[in-house]
Amino acid sequence: MPQDFIFSLVSFLGIVISGLAYDPLDPDGNITIKWDILNWTSDGYEGTVSVINHQKYRQVGHPGWTLSWTWSGKEVIRSIWGAQATDQGDCSGFRMATIPHCCRRDPAVVDLLPTMKIDQGVPNCCRGGLIASRLQDPEDAVSMFRVRVGMAGRSGRTVRLPRNFTLLAPGPGYTCGTAQKVRPTRFLTPDGRRATQALVTWNVICTYSQFLARKAPACCVSLSAFFSRSIVGCPACSCGCRGDAMDRGSCVEGDLESATPRPTSGDSKPPLLRCTDHMCPIRVHWHVKHNYQKYWRAKITITNFDYLSNYSQWSLVVQHPNFENLEQIFSFNSRPISPYASFNDSALLWGVKNYNDLLIQAGLLGNVQSELLFHKNTSSFTLEKGWAFPRRVYFNGDDCIMPPPNAYPMLPNKGLR
Ligand SMILES: *[C@@H]1O[C@H](CO)[C@@H](O)[C@H](O)[C@H]1NC(C)=O
Ligand SMILES: *[C@@H]1O[C@H](CO)[C@@H](O)[C@H](O)[C@H]1NC(C)=O
Ligand SMILES: *[C@@H]1O[C@H](CO)[C@@H](O)[C@H](O)[C@H]1NC(C)=O
Ligand SMILES: *[C@@H]1O[C@H](CO)[C@@H](O)[C@H](O)[C@H]1NC(C)=O
Ligand SMILES: *[C@@H]1O[C@H](CO)[C@@H](O)[C@H](O)[C@H]1NC(C)=O
Ligand SMILES: *[C@@H]1O[C@H](CO)[C@@H](O)[C@H](O)[C@H]1NC(C)=O
Repeated sequence: MPQDFIFSLVSFLGIVISGLAYDPLDPDGNITIKWDILNWTSDGYEGTVSVINHQKYRQVGHPGWTLSWTWSGKEVIRSIWGAQATDQGDCSGFRMATIPHCCRRDPAVVDLLPTMKIDQGVPNCCRGGLIASRLQDPEDAVSMFRVRVGMAGRSGRTVRLPRNFTLLAPGPGYTCGTAQKVRPTRFLTPDGRRATQALVTWNVICTYSQFLARKAPACCVSLSAFFSRSIVGCPACSCGCRGDAMDRGSCVEGDLESATPRPTSGDSKPPLLRCTDHMCPIRVHWHVKHNYQKYWRAKITITNFDYLSNYSQWSLVVQHPNFENLEQIFSFNSRPISPYASFNDSALLWGVKNYNDLLIQAGLLGNVQSELLFHKNTSSFTLEKGWAFPRRVYFNGDDCIMPPPNAYPMLPNKGLR
């Protein structure tokens, strides 16, 4: 079966490639740290730092980003607005009236929580470190803080670039390059009648790799179709094997009446999964539901198998050639991912605010659903050879494990025709 072999080879390569930083659906995706020096002070400078999400569909979720770096010299953070350093460090060498906010050589900074926000004139701050993806919510795709740096150079020639940037967003997964001097950022006054510019601007580009982010995948895909009785489940051991549950936390047989929510302090606690053969916290099911004369209909169900996690503002990326002609989508939002590419075959789907944008923990309500109505393109539409199933699925920006193509639901009586 050479065709099957090529199919498996392609999906195998897909898995290998997705392990690298390059993402074919978002080749330029990155998080850019922009460091704008706006003012020289008596012993350093004042500026703003922006964490800008240039990724189409990968957000920074709870508990938010942590940005750290290493100073090149003896710099300290005198003051900071709209964020805070997690550790002040040893400031015993300072005898002045005002003790610096942070004296560490390698400060780590986190966003303030919304409840800690006092108006300090810092836009885009104080969202608990959450950053939306660019397609989902471009207005919230940036997070900013203002900082006054002391013991630093006081001109563009003597000031030194911080080194060794590390971005946790929220866990590992991003690799940051070295800071580069770039063209100074320009700012328009609110009335738009005057432009000013930063004295110095540095950029740091951080790129994501799922491979670095976690060892096991977190999501798998199952398939079914109206013409086939069998449901093709997620491949066994997609995210782990039942027997190895001890590695990834415990697993619970059947329904759990109530689970104690995970403490909000972090994601360090392992998931408490419902026992399944795939052992993934998330399963995406694609059902080919109807075949009309001019249209066909698919149903998507996302199920949460983790008793300890809610996914707020979840997102799904689906690649299928018929997204070129998506007629209607019910109860999810959607946006084409490459609307200007010659062929537009993938879409970002996400929940409707205050309706199903929260994918609740495992249990009776732990799923969200949508139906998609596609306009048929008669030259390509077919129910054969798995064409009606998605080519690739991402949940919250991470690749989901697909069943092998030779297991896809088949049209009945195939051998008789
Ligand atoms: C980072 O994203 C910006 C904005 O999309 C893009 O212009 C730039 O080329 C990207 N850089 C890298 C290294 O991918
Ligand atoms: C620059 O510094 C001056 C005085 O130190 C201050 O009044 C001004 O607000 C500062 N501007 C910015 C953009 O920080
Ligand atoms: C860079 O940062 C990482 C993590 O903060 C740290 O472990 C490492 O020692 C740093 N390297 C240098 C050269 O400062
Ligand atoms: C998930 O959200 C629901 C509704 O807001 C809440 O009742 C529940 O405690 C949350 N569960 C966890 C694990 O945070
Ligand atoms: C991409 O798809 C969207 C809707 O799914 C459609 O509005 C848009 O015209 C398509 N773009 C191209 C280039 O086909
Ligand atoms: C139908 O599919 C063919 C081949 O995939 C493509 O060239 C053509 O542009 C499509 N037509 C429409 C209306 O999308």
